[in-house]
Amino acid sequence: MSFFSNLFRDIAIDLGTANTLIFIRGKGVVLNEPSIVARERNTGKIVAIGHEALLMHEKTHPGIITIRPLASGVIADYEATEELIKGLINKTKTQFSFGIRRMVIGIPSGITEVEKRAVRDSAEHVGAREVYLVTEPMAAAIGIGLDVKEPMGNMIVDIGGGTTEIAVISLGGIASGESLRVAGTDITNTIIRHFRKAYNLAIGERTAEDVKIKIATAYKPEKEMTMMVRGRNLVTALPEEREVNSATIREAIATPISQIITSIKKSLEVTKPELSADILDRGLFLAGGGALIKGLDKKINEETKLAVHISEDPLTAVARGTGEVLENLEKYRSVLLATKRY
Ligand SMILES: Nc1ncnc2c1ncn2[C@@H]1O[C@H](COP(=O)(O)OP(=O)(O)OP(=O)(O)O)[C@@H](O)[C@H]1O
Ligand SMILES: [Mg+2]
Repeated sequence: MSFFSNLFRDIAIDLGTANTLIFIRGKGVVLNEPSIVARERNTGKIVAIGHEALLMHEKTHPGIITIRPLASGVIADYEATEELIKGLINKTKTQFSFGIRRMVIGIPSGITEVEKRAVRDSAEHVGAREVYLVTEPMAAAIGIGLDVKEPMGNMIVDIGGGTTEIAVISLGGIASGESLRVAGTDITNTIIRHFRKAYNLAIGERTAEDVKIKIATAYKPEKEMTMMVRGRNLVTALPEEREVNSATIREAIATPISQIITSIKKSLEVTKPELSADILDRGLFLAGGGALIKGLDKKINEETKLAVHISEDPLTAVARGTGEVLENLEKYRSVLLATKRY
């Protein structure tokens, strides 16, 4: 590598609905921040990005708005997405550099041609000279360390914030799969609705997420859990605190959980027999933040009879996979997505 090529950086990005992770060649995953930007309402000026913007989320005054630019894993607000990518890349800058040479981005497998184009445009606008796209389930499989090019069926279920990506991977391609727009965010929203309906209590997104992370279960645990939750009573309009238990939360989130499991079963139904046999042998691999819902592995196992493996560090699997692709572009060229140029 010449002296000058060192001045360009190669980076890989997992541009997620909930979190964006950046991998830099030679360094690994260097940044993991919420996909959120805060902006001044009048001037449109960005005032915070990532962690700092999340702290402001739901606590803003009318002069500041917070935006999650990605919805269901795709770009809902182009301008804000670019600001997010640019801002987060800036946070990773440790030394002088000329810019970005290569950029590998993980995208949902169900993405349309127009959506793909939007991701590519954003990457080019922030200065990337070569942009490569890889589907998230493929990246997750690579990140988990599976050999995606062998003639063997591997089933990946990546439950993120906006999408659940289910894919059976063999010979470097996706043999069958589903991209379901039900994932962690829906589960959080279901918890918010449950508090309104059951207790007349309005709770914020961060509180609901906290409930989910601490006591949400997909399968009856050995010991049920409880926690205190604060919100605003919708009748008295006063702040209120109440205790909730894991059994009621499990019931409340049953619908999105069963939608995810139904999709897994649907994917299994359309899988070729030889690949099904491999999956029966190996089990399925869970990635994404949703893999951390307590008892989800047991619940999927009960319904599908397959062994279920929660990948190590599921929140970084896609980012690590995109990084592996970046560092071995030739090896993985066949798994990259082609995008049409207009
Ligand atoms: N310990 C946990 N238990 C349950 N859910 C969790 C836990 N940790 C994170 N999550 C959830 O995981 C989701 C984020 O996962 P992840 O970072 O994989 O999503 P993403 O990649 O940003 O989204 P997508 O892939 O859909 O674009 C959020 O909904 C978050 O609430
Ligand atoms: Mg993801």
